[in-house]
Amino acid sequence: PRKIIIDTDPGQDDAVAILLALASPDEIDLLGITCVAGNVPLPLTSKNARIVCELAGKPDIKVFAGCDRPLGRELVTAEHVHGKTGLDGPTLPDPAMPLQPDHAVDFIVETLRREAPGSVTLCPLGPLTNIAMAFEKAPDIMARVAEIVLMGGAYFQVGNITPAAEFNIYVDPQAANIVFKSGVKLTVMPLDVTHKALVTAPRNDAFRALGTPVGVAVAQMTDFFERFDKEKYGSEGAPLHDPCVTAYLLRPDLFSGRVVNVEIETRSELTLGMTVADWWGVSGRSPNAMFIGDIDADGFFSLLTERLARL
Ligand code: BDR
Ligand code: CA
Repeated sequence: PRKIIIDTDPGQDDAVAILLALASPDEIDLLGITCVAGNVPLPLTSKNARIVCELAGKPDIKVFAGCDRPLGRELVTAEHVHGKTGLDGPTLPDPAMPLQPDHAVDFIVETLRREAPGSVTLCPLGPLTNIAMAFEKAPDIMARVAEIVLMGGAYFQVGNITPAAEFNIYVDPQAANIVFKSGVKLTVMPLDVTHKALVTAPRNDAFRALGTPVGVAVAQMTDFFERFDKEKYGSEGAPLHDPCVTAYLLRPDLFSGRVVNVEIETRSELTLGMTVADWWGVSGRSPNAMFIGDIDADGFFSLLTERLARL
């Protein structure tokens, strides 16, 4: 199995991404979950990650708390999407499993130094603060990362937190800039693809019909999450952003995209956090990311439902 670290700010869709990884031990060896401030503040994201591990019956997963604010600005959160707890929808018990004593950034650095070069994939599902901090603190680890597969950004679809920016990149543009300039192989799931992974009513019914605690909780999470997207975008269901990352590890054939140059806007007040993707290759700058644009949504939802049934 492929060794990964999930860096996350759960978040209902982060929760589903984690569940999909935990349901797939043949393909994915989850070395640890590192938490960051994002959808809600760090005490909640680091609690929610453990709630999700316990829901999956995996209390032995190592969960670390990381940065509680972006590198150079105040934290912006998204309770308007995810609710006060970040995981509104189901009623789940407080976690009994402990948080690891180490800082998430130290865990990322130590893991990359310990494991064979090119053997660990980083999967960021929130603002990129922890990853950027790790790269700044220990630049030697950049060459040891196999690949980064992340959810963030947008090109034709543009912003969801400002007209120009997607939430994860907007919250910490400075961190995103460090990651996009790192030279590490990058695969990006922007809003353009995640807004094609919509939890329609029949797809949500399929989760609920699993009849398991996991299936029911996932259905309740997406019910909650959806109320926002339906009103906002008039779409037929909530975009399941972060699970696209885990699904890509399992079934890259479900996705397609283009290798392009992507730069992060870090200064403009109007377009802060915009992912400026050179889709038509007009800039002459070197490509640094695979930007995914398409998904076989039916294939994605069958995979997800079939895997969640295993938990
Ligand atoms: C991203 O922002 C968060 O609200 C979601 O969890 C996802 O990671 C979508 O813009
Ligand atoms: Ca997230």
